[in-house]
Amino acid sequence: MAPKLAAGNWKMNGTKAALAELDTIAAGIGADGAPEVAICPPFTLVAAAAERAKGGLKVGGQDCHAEAKGAHTGDVSAPMLKDAGAAFVILGHSERRQDHGETDAVVAAKTRAAWDAGLRVILCCGETLEEREAERTLDVVGGQLADSIPDGADAGSLVVAYEPIWAIGTGKVAEPPQIAEVHDAIRSALCERFGDDIGTAIPLLYGGSVKAANAAEIFATSNVDGALVGGASLQADDFLPIVEALG
Ligand code: G3P
Repeated sequence: MAPKLAAGNWKMNGTKAALAELDTIAAGIGADGAPEVAICPPFTLVAAAAERAKGGLKVGGQDCHAEAKGAHTGDVSAPMLKDAGAAFVILGHSERRQDHGETDAVVAAKTRAAWDAGLRVILCCGETLEEREAERTLDVVGGQLADSIPDGADAGSLVVAYEPIWAIGTGKVAEPPQIAEVHDAIRSALCERFGDDIGTAIPLLYGGSVKAANAAEIFATSNVDGALVGGASLQADDFLPIVEALG
């Protein structure tokens, strides 16, 4: 069984004032790390968030460069995130793939860099509406995972987040049977590639308009071990009920 994880992706939201939400989240979760809870704020807040995170709350970044250091203006490396106190990094989010043209090969290189720095990777995959309507979802997601995850993954270093692009920030949530079909396929692919012991222990998160009202139904779905939450992670009052539903 994979451990449960509720992760918040603040995207390009939050200034120092938002750090107060972390105090409320930290106070509202168990200190035993079950389920695990992480917040991934923008780079500017990672160090302050990590210093402020108490109890079981962990912090992550939303991207990293594939190199450890060098002449890459505006970029942040995996060792820098680790040094700032991050435990996780989100890689391959569809907004990075779309806004910055990140390919699977780029995501794989970043993943390798993150592992080298000791970060746990939340690796995102997901199809567009056009791809779903063309019944290409499993091919698209399978291809993304095959090409974005480098060899050598283990359960302690990898989390996979399935985020159908048409469900992100739209209020439109994938139906449980749709989520189950994709999560079951991801689980099988991970077991086939890395063996059953590792494949069954890698947490699989669903992302896309998760909120308190739909969390319990999503978490009851086959092979769903948690959620990657965008909008509903910005306020502790919205996020904590989701953590609670995960149990
Ligand atoms: O990474 C989380 C995400 O893309 C989902 O965003 O706002 O639909 O929960 P949201």
